[in-house]
Amino acid sequence: MNAKLLIAGALVLASAGVAVAAVQVYAPTRSRAPWTTIQKGKYLARAGDCESCHTAEGGKPYAGGRPVPTPFGIVYSVNITPDPGTGIGEWSEEDFYRAMHEGIDQQGNRLYPAFPYPWYTHMTRGDVDAIKAYLATVKPVRQVDRDTKLGWPFSMRSMLAVWDKLYLDAKQFQPDPARSAEWNRGKYLVDGAGHCGACHSSKNVLGHADTSHPMQGGMAEHVFAPNLGAGERDGLSGWTRDDIVRYLDTGSNRYATAAGPMAEVVQASTQYLKQSDLEAMATYLKSLEGPTPETPNAPDKDTMRAGAALYVDDCAGCHMNNGAGIADAFPPLRASSAVQAAKPDLLIAVILQGARSPATSAKPTELMMPAFDDKLDDAEVATLTTYIRNAWGNRGGDVSKGDVAKLRNTLASAPH
Ligand code: HEC
Ligand code: HEC
Ligand code: HEC
Repeated sequence: MNAKLLIAGALVLASAGVAVAAVQVYAPTRSRAPWTTIQKGKYLARAGDCESCHTAEGGKPYAGGRPVPTPFGIVYSVNITPDPGTGIGEWSEEDFYRAMHEGIDQQGNRLYPAFPYPWYTHMTRGDVDAIKAYLATVKPVRQVDRDTKLGWPFSMRSMLAVWDKLYLDAKQFQPDPARSAEWNRGKYLVDGAGHCGACHSSKNVLGHADTSHPMQGGMAEHVFAPNLGAGERDGLSGWTRDDIVRYLDTGSNRYATAAGPMAEVVQASTQYLKQSDLEAMATYLKSLEGPTPETPNAPDKDTMRAGAALYVDDCAGCHMNNGAGIADAFPPLRASSAVQAAKPDLLIAVILQGARSPATSAKPTELMMPAFDDKLDDAEVATLTTYIRNAWGNRGGDVSKGDVAKLRNTLASAPH
């Protein structure tokens, strides 16, 4: 009897002790969202690539100040750390959702679509709230935002109301019941957080993406982001679902290596996504149509001969005479969609600037490609790219000296 009482007493004390300990552990963090919500928000922030765009080179994470080039001028990203004065520490969930869904800030000002809210608008309220909960846990940084540098009339934020009225389709993603759950998840990620079409869809002069022909290729900052719909020459018809998953996970596969803006997307975003989410995105991409193929101009024999000579001198050492490259070291240029893309910009940019997977990447490539901007002039680069786009069964059409000169200028004046 006594023993029983003792045990009961001990149990009461023990559970009281647990309760006290629980209060002590959880009390200071009571205003925070549950850990699982914060983790979900962190994952979605990666899927949305928030950090890389909201962090200046050498700057503090999420404190903003990175230049984002737009067709109208430069817009700087802003401080979204929880600092109450200069960040978004005083924003409510409602304020944050309005920014993500409608592109309007806490004070009611319109935001520039350089912030990809025309894509984030598709995200569910729960997912957006989770991102806010995660951002509340990052280190607050006191840093005042930089002014944007846009020409009139886009320097007037009120003009953006017109843009939104014309183009913003502020509605959450609606699943298509005729498609599988996996396809719907893939579309939700590609069109929402992933904002893949911000680069991979064509844009009109006002920067509005063509949503009726999604992912058929478009300009990404200074280079062409290739068609991700169907297509033999450019496009993903030849890629299996696993090829797409591998590329998004590691930055390369048997057909291509991310060397331009996509390298950063992989590094900061897609490499962190779960296998099942990458598979869902691949399933969705494989369902897309491609652009109507054009017949490219066939280059003349002299250009091909001169281009082949330049290729042997400067490129074949790594990419091989037959353009096949070496697996996991030098990407192939033969049957490469990046090489045959509708616009030759990426190819030209890689030749002029060289390429290397960033050293900070979690899956870095030791090898790099040298820059040739000092070695080759515009005419030589045009001849060489014409050759590569039409050798070994490639059919990419020719490249003019003017195309190269234009891109060389743009790259030289790109903001840093
Ligand atoms: C491509 C670059 C880019 C990406 C990616 C991006 N942003 Fe931004 N964001 C911007 C720019 C630029 C602005 C400022 C727009 C302006 O000044 O009108 C901005 C503004 C904002 C604002 C308004 C803040 C304020 O003080 O007005 C919020 C909130 C925000 N972003 C959150 C996010 C979140 C969350 C993500 C990821 C899901 C994200 N952004 C991804 C570029 C980006
Ligand atoms: C900032 C612009 C940008 C964004 C955002 C972006 N991409 Fe890309 N992507 C590019 C560019 C440019 C290339 C060409 C290769 C390179 O940059 O190295 C590319 C290449 C690719 C390729 C290889 C295509 C080929 O034929 O070689 C795939 C697949 C791809 N992107 C998928 C995606 C997906 C999925 C998303 C969204 C999660 C996405 N991209 C978001 C710019 C972007
Ligand atoms: C010293 C070796 C080396 C030489 C020489 C070289 N490359 Fe590269 N190249 C590479 C490496 C390595 C990469 C992949 C970089 C990365 O991991 O981001 C690459 C990437 C590329 C890509 C991007 C492929 C893709 O799938 O996006 C193109 C295009 C390219 N090189 C063309 C050329 C051309 C044209 C020349 C000659 C002017 C050349 N390279 C010379 C090593 C080289």
